[in-house]
Amino acid sequence: MKYITAYAVAIAAMFAFMTGAAIAASDAPFEGRTKCSNCHKSQAKSWKDTAHAKAMESLKPNTKKEAKVKAKLDPEKDYTQDKDCVGCHVDGFGKTGGYSIDAPKKPLTGVGCESCHGPGKNYRGDHRKAGQAFEKSNKTTPRKTLADKGQDFAFEESCNACHLNYEGSPWKDAKPPYTPFTPDVDPKYAFDFDKMVKDVKAMHEHFKLDGVFVGEPKFKYHDEFQASAKEGEKGKEE
Ligand code: HEC
Ligand code: HEC
Ligand code: HEC
Ligand code: HEC
Repeated sequence: MKYITAYAVAIAAMFAFMTGAAIAASDAPFEGRTKCSNCHKSQAKSWKDTAHAKAMESLKPNTKKEAKVKAKLDPEKDYTQDKDCVGCHVDGFGKTGGYSIDAPKKPLTGVGCESCHGPGKNYRGDHRKAGQAFEKSNKTTPRKTLADKGQDFAFEESCNACHLNYEGSPWKDAKPPYTPFTPDVDPKYAFDFDKMVKDVKAMHEHFKLDGVFVGEPKFKYHDEFQASAKEGEKGKEE
């Protein structure tokens, strides 16, 4: 009996641990890009010049007029508070800690770090700790600890949720609200992940890492990007 109880407790503890981890990864909170940008200064500076950073501008009246007319939108209308639009032009719309129309926050406006790298509140502290351990004693940290807390190392599904979300899309999870900018409107809106993810004018330039994080899951083009990465400027969390 004693054994059975101990066994049951162990199983229950294991189950609680496993579901806890699964919840952490799938429903981790967003917190905005300020902290990421303070530490990763070079990426943040480069990202600021991208269309992703300026995505909210496109929802303002009298911007991108030609593109809007072509997609049967009203170029004079203000779409910045339209729930059928903002979801793909901000970070974490409708998710814990993410952008909301009623209380818009600047560090969540535009398509920022967390839209691609995953909601950061749970893994961000591990970056700091891992960085300190590496500085102190060259100790590396497995990427898996970050992935378990919601950091995304594959990217493709997140890109698809915005870029391939339209009726008749090859992406099976498409559901409204859809993007008005589909390949039927103009073939240039077709989304080719392997080509697009290498576009540093749309992501950000890549900068050399020290190799603090190791192992799988590693992004499939990580080594290729690092091979031609520039020397960057690092910052500190504020
Ligand atoms: C939260 C939604 C969202 C996510 C996630 C997202 N994008 Fe975008 N992307 C946009 C929007 C919106 C624009 C257009 C911004 C604008 O011009 O207003 C854009 C623009 C782009 C462009 C520029 C197109 C051009 O005309 O130059 C590329 C390339 C691109 N995205 C690739 C990607 C890739 C690759 C990923 C994943 C790693 C990704 N995006 C993730 C919403 C998203
Ligand atoms: C499902 C996600 C999604 C929704 C919803 C969405 N967009 Fe976008 N939007 C995108 C993506 C992705 C792009 C980038 C397309 C590209 O360049 O390949 C984009 C680009 C744009 C652009 C720039 C187009 C260009 O050629 O420069 C404008 C303007 C825009 N969106 C306005 C809107 C408006 C207005 C709405 C609501 C009626 C809306 N979007 C809803 C994902 C979305
Ligand atoms: C549109 C998607 C996208 C956005 C937005 C984005 N990144 Fe990235 N980022 C990537 C991709 C793809 C990589 C390559 C991953 C790899 O090589 O492992 C990357 C790599 C990185 C790296 C690794 C070193 C390097 O330079 O390659 C850091 C650090 C980073 N991003 C920080 C940020 C920060 C901070 C922001 C916000 C200011 C941000 N990223 C916004 C897609 C994005
Ligand atoms: C306290 C500073 C700090 C904060 C805050 C921080 N990072 Fe990092 N991050 C680091 C350090 C240190 C590394 C390891 C760099 C190296 O290997 O040279 C790292 C590594 C990364 C990498 C590379 C992972 C890989 O595959 O090797 C990415 C991507 C990244 N950070 C994105 C982010 C994003 C997105 C945020 C915000 C949600 C963020 N970081 C917040 C310090 C930080």
